[in-house]
Amino acid sequence: MTERAPHVAVCPGSFDPVTNGHLDVVSRAVGLFDEVIVAVLTNPAKEPTFTLDERLEMLRESLGVLDGVRVEAVSGGLLVDFCREVGAGAVVKGLRSGTDFAYELPMALMNRHLSGLETVFLPGEPRFEHVSSSLVKEVAGHGGDVSGLVPDAVLARLLARLGVVGHTGTVPGR
Ligand code: PNS
Repeated sequence: MTERAPHVAVCPGSFDPVTNGHLDVVSRAVGLFDEVIVAVLTNPAKEPTFTLDERLEMLRESLGVLDGVRVEAVSGGLLVDFCREVGAGAVVKGLRSGTDFAYELPMALMNRHLSGLETVFLPGEPRFEHVSSSLVKEVAGHGGDVSGLVPDAVLARLLARLGVVGHTGTVPGR
């Protein structure tokens, strides 16, 4: 019997920092592919809050020993080249809303145009629909409660980085 090549997928992003929404999508991808590589890139359109090393560390801590996942930095160049190097046949992206789709679709089509690389869109868990790294940072920076939206270890680092002591923003009676 001939053995088939493993199906490898890449989950790319800035992960600045990783949220529970990201972890939800990665864990769904793990159920669909033999190997998932979480690829950490620096998006030139965004000023990062955490260094590349810090973002890698937080992802590795948060994903623990989840089987079939590894976290890698992409130091530059095109995502399609990285995918070719690691033998990935697909990119996996989570979708929260139509806004995400509008942002992701041109990138998916460009990646396919460049190298034939396909993108698989996975609908995220609805309870994380409002969760993005940038919104979490904004809310936390103003003292709002973002616990449950990012892993606990990430929350501690985020509050330290933003110089936040405690949180406000809790609705009375909740
Ligand atoms: O989490 P983000 O910042 O939305 O992720 C965007 C990212 C980093 C995945 C995207 O900008 C990317 O793929 N950058 C690598 C360079 C590249 O291939 N650009 C062309 C994309 S079609």
